[in-house]
Amino acid sequence: MNDKINVAIVFGGQSAEHKVSLQSAFNLIEVIDRSKYHPFLLGIDRAGVWFLYPDFYAVANRRQPVPRATKNGVREVALVRKNGCVQVLDLDTFDGLGQVDVIMPVLHGPSGEDGCLQGLAQMLGVPCVGSGVLSSAVCMDKDICKRLLQHGGIEVADYLVLDRDHNVGFDKLVRKLGSPLYVKPANMGSSIGVSKVASPEALAAALAMAFRYDSKVLVERAVQGREIECAVIGNDYPRVSKPGEVVVKYDYYSYTAKYLDSQGAELKVPADLDDLTTKMIQELAADVYTLLGCQGMARIDMFLTEADEVIVNEVNTVPGFTHISMFPKLWQAGGMNGRELLDHLILSAVDNYCSREAMTVRLAGCQ
Ligand SMILES: Nc1ncnc2c1ncn2[C@@H]1O[C@H](COP(=O)(O)OP(=O)(O)O)[C@@H](O)[C@H]1O
Ligand SMILES: [Mg+2]
Repeated sequence: MNDKINVAIVFGGQSAEHKVSLQSAFNLIEVIDRSKYHPFLLGIDRAGVWFLYPDFYAVANRRQPVPRATKNGVREVALVRKNGCVQVLDLDTFDGLGQVDVIMPVLHGPSGEDGCLQGLAQMLGVPCVGSGVLSSAVCMDKDICKRLLQHGGIEVADYLVLDRDHNVGFDKLVRKLGSPLYVKPANMGSSIGVSKVASPEALAAALAMAFRYDSKVLVERAVQGREIECAVIGNDYPRVSKPGEVVVKYDYYSYTAKYLDSQGAELKVPADLDDLTTKMIQELAADVYTLLGCQGMARIDMFLTEADEVIVNEVNTVPGFTHISMFPKLWQAGGMNGRELLDHLILSAVDNYCSREAMTVRLAGCQ
């Protein structure tokens, strides 16, 4: 009898962060405890088609996009509700290839981190690691996220939102926000589409690039400060890691600094901070997590200025799990290895699902 928990690790996807997702999935597949869990490796290609990969296929191809071809045992599949449970359905034979007990989203960016996959999980009625629909969507959109943080009295960098039809000149932006400026798509990650600009020409090029990824673009005041990140796990009583620091060798923490140049940034885990500052940052990270309704896991990214002011930059509800990622490193430093971390995440997802289910049953009983 198979008494293992079946975990669908979903990776790839249609966002520009497809390749980063493969790197994250590779690490999770390596650490997942196979005595407890049976992983289904579900890769979504760039066109949005879902495939089930036999073990470690994805690993061998982790630097390539998810391939379309159904060969070497790769099946084109869908997740459906059938016979009272969620099944991986073979789309050629319509056979059920196995039951899914938990979804582990390893999709970064739109369509994976933004509530879409979380909504699918909710419709299917299966626990999903991480935040739910609303919190995922809110944290994905840097404009909405900042508005909520500001409303909760949490400091963020001043910014303006531009859409394609609403162009504001360089001089006006500099008068409002200073120079240099950061330009970024509202819904993206991994620094894709992000630019630092200090001239009208650079602004025009930066806007053109950012609008390739989103119809809403933020122009932000540049914050001078150290880049500090905290990992948070859990549901109603979140647990916050010690802060880590990203010391960037480039002008800012660009895609190149993150993923292309292995010397592009140094992660200091934990960050060299005094106890008081550490505590202040951890409390702020917990407040942000709770305020935004995060569940399961998130990485809260902040700037620490010379005046010891903490400014929240962004919240990642599906943080990177690559071998260089801060989220697993922070827990590792706190005494929790990748395998134990995954245990926590899966348990939190089941817990969260069960308390929601209990509420649904109670509500149904009221009618
Ligand atoms: N307002 C800002 N001030 C200073 N640096 C910034 C600012 N916004 C972004 N950056 C730099 O750009 C990087 C990527 O921007 P971020 O908003 O975190 O986007 P992403 O979601 O793609 O990671 C940050 O890690 C930081 O180095
Ligand atoms: Mg970032």
